[in-house]
Amino acid sequence: MPKLANIILIGDGAIGSSFAFNCLTSGVGSSLGIIDINMERVQGDVEDLNDALPYASQKNIYAANYHDCQYADLIVITAGIAQRPGQTRLELLQKNAQILTDIAHQIMSSGFNGIILIASNPVDILTELVLKITGLPRNQVIGSGTALDSARLRSEIGQRFNIDARAVHGYILGEHGDSEFPTWDYVTIGGKPIRDWLPTEHQDETLDDIGNTVKTAAYSIIDKKGATFYGIAASLTRITAAILGDQRSAFAMSVHLDGEYGLRDVSIGVPCIIGEKGLDRIIELDLNPADLKRLTDSAVILQKNLAAVME
Ligand code: LAC
Repeated sequence: MPKLANIILIGDGAIGSSFAFNCLTSGVGSSLGIIDINMERVQGDVEDLNDALPYASQKNIYAANYHDCQYADLIVITAGIAQRPGQTRLELLQKNAQILTDIAHQIMSSGFNGIILIASNPVDILTELVLKITGLPRNQVIGSGTALDSARLRSEIGQRFNIDARAVHGYILGEHGDSEFPTWDYVTIGGKPIRDWLPTEHQDETLDDIGNTVKTAAYSIIDKKGATFYGIAASLTRITAAILGDQRSAFAMSVHLDGEYGLRDVSIGVPCIIGEKGLDRIIELDLNPADLKRLTDSAVILQKNLAAVME
């Protein structure tokens, strides 16, 4: 049995319940408590998920309350309003900052001292906000950041090149939102840099096209089905497995920078090693000047928005 096993999920909407189902069917964690403002829905989900237990690994799934947070190793927050068609993630800030402020206070009142993984949007700003409110060290408050966008990048490249997405590596960095960008210098397919796979004459055009497809992926999905949930739920499950199993895996996640990349006072998507401490270490890539400027510009957008909501 892994040392860390108790998860509390806060927010039982489409993302939260997909995450719960994914944890159950992939055997991640041994205990999952669920909290939502709609506890009737939680009770329904608990009953529904319990029906899958004979086909899943041993698991205790229950309707939780904030008092239970004291026993949690990991709290996953997906609560808040979601993007509507055409809406940016930043437009959710005012409302979701209030919701997460309230949640953060309630978590800390329980005596919780574990890891908080945030997925609510705008995820980078909310991660920094929760970090400030809780006073927890930065390794314990992390956001899903551009983990999902990096997965989308790998998936998109895999499909275009007809190669297993797991053989594709690389990151989207920056805000999980409109100012994010791919770091092409570090994107490889089977270990070979992506540029070496492309004819020189169409290289920039193809890379721009891939980058734009990834950046606008959520808009495309929300236009068609009203919300995104399987992609983010899979990312959260994978990150949860890395934390609970101390796997020390690498993801681009939203973490608080303290001088890395020349940036401070911001949580933003950069590559990190994730294990039982949450953030184990930040990977500092040697970015070319254009990418470093993109990261810095993205950080400024996040800092301005956080400052506005904290006024
Ligand atoms: C997305 C949401 C989770 O990108 O922001 O799908």
